[in-house]
Amino acid sequence: MTWVHGGPDLLVALDHGGARLGSQIQDQLRAAIRERRLAPGERLPSTRRLAGLLGVSRGTVVDVYEQLSAEGYLESVVGSGTRVAAMPSAAPARGVRVAGAPAAASAPIAVDFEYGVPDLGSVPLADWSWAVSEATRTLPTAQLGDEDPAGSRHLREVVSAYHRRVRAGCAGGDDVVVVSGFRQGLTFALATLARHGVSRLGLEDPGPRDHGLIARRAGLDAVPVAVDEHGVDVGRLRASGARAVLLTPAHQCPTGVALAPARRRELIAWAEEVDGVILEDDYDAEFRYDRQPVGSLQGLDPDRVIALGSVSKTLAPALRLGWMLVPPRFVAGIVEEKRLSSRGAPALDQEALALLMETGRFDRHLRRVREIYRTRRDALAAEVERAFGPGRLRGLEAGCHTLLALPGGVSERAVAAGAAASGVRVSPLGDYRFEAGSADGVPPALVLGFGNVDEERIRRGIRIIADVVAREGAG
Ligand SMILES: Cc1ncc(COP(=O)(O)O)c(C=O)c1O
Repeated sequence: MTWVHGGPDLLVALDHGGARLGSQIQDQLRAAIRERRLAPGERLPSTRRLAGLLGVSRGTVVDVYEQLSAEGYLESVVGSGTRVAAMPSAAPARGVRVAGAPAAASAPIAVDFEYGVPDLGSVPLADWSWAVSEATRTLPTAQLGDEDPAGSRHLREVVSAYHRRVRAGCAGGDDVVVVSGFRQGLTFALATLARHGVSRLGLEDPGPRDHGLIARRAGLDAVPVAVDEHGVDVGRLRASGARAVLLTPAHQCPTGVALAPARRRELIAWAEEVDGVILEDDYDAEFRYDRQPVGSLQGLDPDRVIALGSVSKTLAPALRLGWMLVPPRFVAGIVEEKRLSSRGAPALDQEALALLMETGRFDRHLRRVREIYRTRRDALAAEVERAFGPGRLRGLEAGCHTLLALPGGVSERAVAAGAAASGVRVSPLGDYRFEAGSADGVPPALVLGFGNVDEERIRRGIRIIADVVAREGAG
């Protein structure tokens, strides 16, 4: 990359009353290079610029650069200025990764069924680039100050309309808080609930990794609530004494079941009974293939459900944008958490997302990727049936992950390890259990994320897993 003008700034502190300004500059640059505060290849300011910055003559800086070049610390390339030379013998400073150096060695992964990754090759970068430039062109500069702590008014209105239209939600713009993804929203929600006197949170078991840890860090007592083929067991939730529960009702993570209609009603009744709160993780509801859309729980009981949405599955995790639909009594508390912690998401990105959604580009993208995921899902189902016989997959009606039930007696952990040794990454279901070992007596299974794996790799990966299972079964 070429630097646009003059070269970068550099921290050199001179004692103008002291002796030999050139020596002072030379010593400081030499030390910075030795300690790797200036890394090999890094560009130095032009002699004119550094002289101007330090208030010395240009000749002084020219002499310094010449001396350090002679010593092997710097090198000058015509047209590309002066850079720090490669110094193979110097040890990198702690915590500094030298550009170009390989990271810690890891086994090569040829097929990655890691849960939760959307098709990164399909991220609509042209649309995003359009939206960001449109946002940059049109956002009034007055909105470039500290944003409204609840988030961009424009995005909040667009999200509430989207949620009403696509998720049968029931919230206005005033009830929406923009966050930098589900996780950030979750931490705000848990802190707010704790201040409202909630001390115990029910978590799906099996359920998303880390949620127990996040809850405990928020000072809550996290308790497991079993999930069966109809979703979370509300009887057990009632017995747990929890007054709040965190759920993935549209497509349970990781089992893939949709919360059954009777359970949804039972759950809302439970919340009324205990004056409880339901945290609805609405992370991949947009992707469903051959079942009716399931509306958001938030639409059923807007006073008791906090819904959390995110673009991590629909667009890309790296965008770090999400939203919360919040019952009015919690809005101020959640906004306060956000204001105190980080003030939240970048204004231009919020505006870009609002434009993407409002102009139909977001919906168009969803239609496109839904077809890609459907094709991948079909390839996966066909290959699994070929390799393992029928009826092995769960939760394939929606989303980008599925559960592969292994033959009884095979260790899911051993299969995952054997697959990894052959370049296939996949997680055992046990990783999603509330407590290690709580899977005892439960049939072994693997969680397969297929959003970011093309059909050819899917077929190859399943064949490798089948070979490992056959070996494990025979052993
Ligand atoms: C169960 C679940 N909820 C939520 C999310 C989204 O989280 P975030 O918006 O923090 O990226 C994910 C992403 O993988 C997920 O798997």
